Amino acid sequence: MTNNRCVRFVKTAVGAIDASHFTVSTEAIPNAEAGDIVVQNAFVSLDPYQRRQMMPNVAYANPLNLGDVMVGRAIGQVVESKHADFKVDDWALGHFGWQRYTKIKAAGAEKINLDGFSASTYLGALGSPGVTAWVGLRAIAKAVPTDTVVISAATGAVGSVAAALARSIGCRVVGIAGGPAKCQHAVEKLGYSDCIDYRDPNFKQLLAQATPQGIDVDFENVGGAIFDCVLERLNDFARIALCGMISQYNLIEPDGIRNIGEILNKNATLQGFRVTSYPEHRAQAQQDIKALLRSGALQPTETFVEGLEAAPQAFVDLFKGANLGKLVVRV
Ligand SMILES: NC(=O)c1ccc[n+]([C@@H]2O[C@H](COP(=O)([O-])OP(=O)(O)OC[C@H]3O[C@@H](n4cnc5c(N)ncnc54)[C@H](OP(=O)(O)O)[C@@H]3O)[C@@H](O)[C@H]2O)c1
Repeated sequence: MTNNRCVRFVKTAVGAIDASHFTVSTEAIPNAEAGDIVVQNAFVSLDPYQRRQMMPNVAYANPLNLGDVMVGRAIGQVVESKHADFKVDDWALGHFGWQRYTKIKAAGAEKINLDGFSASTYLGALGSPGVTAWVGLRAIAKAVPTDTVVISAATGAVGSVAAALARSIGCRVVGIAGGPAKCQHAVEKLGYSDCIDYRDPNFKQLLAQATPQGIDVDFENVGGAIFDCVLERLNDFARIALCGMISQYNLIEPDGIRNIGEILNKNATLQGFRVTSYPEHRAQAQQDIKALLRSGALQPTETFVEGLEAAPQAFVDLFKGANLGKLVVRV
């Protein structure tokens, strides 16, 4: 390769997004200066949080400025190093952005021993989404074997790992996903006891049938009307790990939550969390998830997008449920 390819954020995003918020440009490959490495990215991660960083005036980690390279984690191999900790061909992971080559201070990159797993796994099950699943289930909700656990965005990057972890604890695990094909995948491949299609007109009734003993833990990824239905099924002293509200990210005005009173009625605990605030759990989470992967209890589902040119549309489609499992660009 003689050039860099970069996806830049060029239009503020309020409401629904489309590919016009991005440009794909050809640029010079950067050279390393003292203390830097240059990484040739093999895989770039597309994640819902990136949408939130496109909002104007949002008080959320490092909002993007117009013209910035799109934010995102990536994994690749070092092609030039001016730091003793990295040599050429080492695998490196970090916030390298949506681009083919990234120049970064070595302190901003983590050297990865693939340990028998594919590099893309370190953006999904063994990366931030997998650790998020572990933190939400173990550290926030403190799931125990007698729990009925409900997970929304059930077949996604976080949801699919959360399901395997909940199963390994011994919980009954019920998913919520968009469409019959995803629900079938959830039950046949991800270990859910049941999975309910939220687009079904009888969703509320089907959720009640799938949770005859009520809900002890809600691993909440979606928010909005789906969350309201889950609230009605909570058991006394239920725990809600509020991980995400993806149904809200493309709205101009957020939905209200109608059934917030159920948290009072049921002595429930609602705790939001951001995985970056819990670094102390990362090593244990990765160890547990590696064990699930090695035993076959977790089979990572990944949707690959071919080339950075396809990244903007694939990202837009993430908010329409086009992905199954972790959405990754193969650079
Ligand atoms: N708290 C943290 O630190 C943290 C870290 C990572 C992720 N998260 C959050 O976790 C959630 C899942 O993230 P992920 O990376 O695993 O993404 P993902 O589930 O792999 O992909 C997003 C999925 O969300 C569902 N979705 C999209 N728009 C929706 C809508 N309007 N209504 C209902 N469902 C919708 C779609 O699945 P269906 O086809 O099933 O609708 C889509 O496939 C997100 O809310 C994200 O912000 C939080």
